[in-house]
Amino acid sequence: MSQRILGVKGMNDLLPPDIAVWQVLEAAARETFRRFGYEEARTPAVEDTALFVRSVGEATDIVGKEMYTFEDKAGRSLSLRPEGTAPLVRAYVEHAVAQKEPVTRWWYLGPMFRYERMKTGRYRQFWQVGAEAYGVRAPAQETELIDLAMQLFDAVGLEGIRVELNSLGDPETRGVYLESLRTFLRAHRTELCAECQERTEKNPLRVFDCKNPSCQAVLALAPAITDGLSGEARAHFEAVQRQLGLLGIPFRVNPRMVRGIDYYTRTAFEFLSDDPVLGTASAVGGGGRYDRLVKELGGPDTPAVGWALGMDRLTLLLQAKGTVQPVRPGLFVAVAEESAADAALALVSRLRRAGHRVDFDARSGSLKSQMKRADKSGATYALVLGSRELTSGEAHLKPLAGGEPVPVRLDALEATLRAARAATAGPL
Ligand code: HAM
Repeated sequence: MSQRILGVKGMNDLLPPDIAVWQVLEAAARETFRRFGYEEARTPAVEDTALFVRSVGEATDIVGKEMYTFEDKAGRSLSLRPEGTAPLVRAYVEHAVAQKEPVTRWWYLGPMFRYERMKTGRYRQFWQVGAEAYGVRAPAQETELIDLAMQLFDAVGLEGIRVELNSLGDPETRGVYLESLRTFLRAHRTELCAECQERTEKNPLRVFDCKNPSCQAVLALAPAITDGLSGEARAHFEAVQRQLGLLGIPFRVNPRMVRGIDYYTRTAFEFLSDDPVLGTASAVGGGGRYDRLVKELGGPDTPAVGWALGMDRLTLLLQAKGTVQPVRPGLFVAVAEESAADAALALVSRLRRAGHRVDFDARSGSLKSQMKRADKSGATYALVLGSRELTSGEAHLKPLAGGEPVPVRLDALEATLRAARAATAGPL
């Protein structure tokens, strides 16, 4: 045997039966976006590297350490997208969407790539579902988006997801805070790791991203960004909090939560779970306002807010709850003898065309082995087709969970299955 070639480390195959929870999550996301009036946008998985350097920020871990960057055959520097916000803004600007409508609300879903240290809930190819809204400066945009995420969690039955909020202020007034943070960090220089010493000078906000306990201990005493907010930014932040209260969405203000990306202005938020299945990867999503990015990427001055949820983490939570059932056929058609195989094939096709979930064993084989497969498939009913049934035009629907077989006319099978489906809401 030749040597096997394995999948790339940190990049998962999503296969049945586990894929069922992904499908439930995706369907719930589509449905929730529909209710909120968000429209889907799809962008390529690969972008010009400069897009992420300029938006996410050079000093961030994402751009500094985690991007899959390569040269194409023409020598262009391209990167696999580490996140979805910058690509959507790129598309929004490139297609001059702002000139066509004052407010645009998009959602997206797809794989993202970051060369991270792997552990439970942290992968190198991971999936995000995200939402981005352009054109609204008012705090109600943050509130709508947080409400959207909460309604999505509700739609899949995920409870206990907490919201943390912070305000990163406006770039115009953030300078004063950054200077006081820098002064504070310089005073604690020896307690910081080498990387944070460098971050102190380059981009002190990024020190908050460090997981090192001694750096975190220093930060516990650092000045809070919320203390340095301008009057306008403060009023905006208070309005978001008031509106969340209005919608009955609990939250906690965490002045140390600054998110690991440079483009945020004003409100930043995170969705967190304390479920032990996630290990230390407790953030199931995050986002915030980024009023400067559209302009920085060459578009008109357009405010924006958005979030992304980590689908790998959400599906881990759903899997642990165990509420999602794998897809099961309603009916399994078996043949009593080879001569009935063509008729069975035609019957299965006809029932499927009529919308029923029907399965059969294309290998035929012994009736015993077919019935074994029927049992394993989890079908509600089995129907055995042989020359007797074909001659009389009548067969039996055998409930596989136990119970008496019910006689049924073959030419009335669709109607019988339809009626049974209406009565049981089962997978017929
Ligand atoms: P982010 O916080 O970098 O934000 O990622 C959002 C979510 O993606 C995280 O909370 C986490 O659940 C998931 N995630 C991130 N990295 C990984 C990984 N390596 N493995 C598994 N899951 C992961 C953003 O990406 C921003 N674009 C969000 C945003 C949208 N801000 C404004 N609009």
